[in-house]
Amino acid sequence: MKKVCIVGASGKLGQYMVGHALERGYDVIGVCRERSVPKLAAFEGRMTVIPGPTNDSEVIRRAVAGCDGVLTVLAPWGVQQYASGTAQAVLDHARPGARLVFSCGWHITRDGKDKYSRMFTVGVRIASVLAKLVRAVEIDDQVEACRRVFASDTRWTVVRGSSLEEGESQGLPVWSRHVGDPVLAGNLTRRVDFALFMVEALTNDTLIQEAPAIVGCRTPSALAHAGGPRNQA
Ligand SMILES: NC(=O)c1ccc[n+]([C@@H]2O[C@H](COP(=O)([O-])OP(=O)(O)OC[C@H]3O[C@@H](n4cnc5c(N)ncnc54)[C@H](OP(=O)(O)O)[C@@H]3O)[C@@H](O)[C@H]2O)c1
Repeated sequence: MKKVCIVGASGKLGQYMVGHALERGYDVIGVCRERSVPKLAAFEGRMTVIPGPTNDSEVIRRAVAGCDGVLTVLAPWGVQQYASGTAQAVLDHARPGARLVFSCGWHITRDGKDKYSRMFTVGVRIASVLAKLVRAVEIDDQVEACRRVFASDTRWTVVRGSSLEEGESQGLPVWSRHVGDPVLAGNLTRRVDFALFMVEALTNDTLIQEAPAIVGCRTPSALAHAGGPRNQA
């Protein structure tokens, strides 16, 4: 892993991923909206920024050229298929064999075997309807983006984040294949550690074509199951 592209680099998760990738000595290319370029000022001179919408196929083609890995923040903003357009552009233009790592939340299911609490399911449903009504967010489109990734024969990983909080790193989150597994009950991850998991996944081949649901390694549920079979990260 020498050169990586971070699609959605200016957001909170993206900036943490830039930091982790630079720490590892990677050559970093970041894509973000033109208006958000100033958010990356702290990294000036240490990364290359390609401004543009992340669902613009031409922008992504230029950004991922020659990259060994692509980290993509799937954000379901607006009602113009932003997340699925972004995922599709990455799938279309990343070089064959590149490691592709995408972010989303626990609400995405790969095989339908996740077990959600009633409160979680109702919360997602209400949020989806309200957000779509005000044309702010299109959660269905993030589902579509992940469906396309799951169906692709690329070397992908879809990292499914729990609820997030800010704060200093606690270490690499633990993961499980299915929401509902006891190790995930803590449902909280530091955003900086979500980013750490994304960057570590670039070089962890056991995560290829997996959709790990993650949780902070210091949550009570993770500590209670430390060393268990699901505590694989
Ligand atoms: N927030 C949570 O509680 C939570 C929980 C679990 C998983 N996740 C997942 O974590 C990832 C990061 O989410 P986050 O909430 O932490 O946010 P974030 O890292 O700040 O990322 C938001 C991204 O969306 C872009 N964006 C914001 N408004 C936009 C707009 N109107 N049009 C186009 N792009 C826009 C941002 O770019 P700019 O810098 O240009 O604004 C940024 O790249 C996502 O994949 C999300 O599904 C989040």
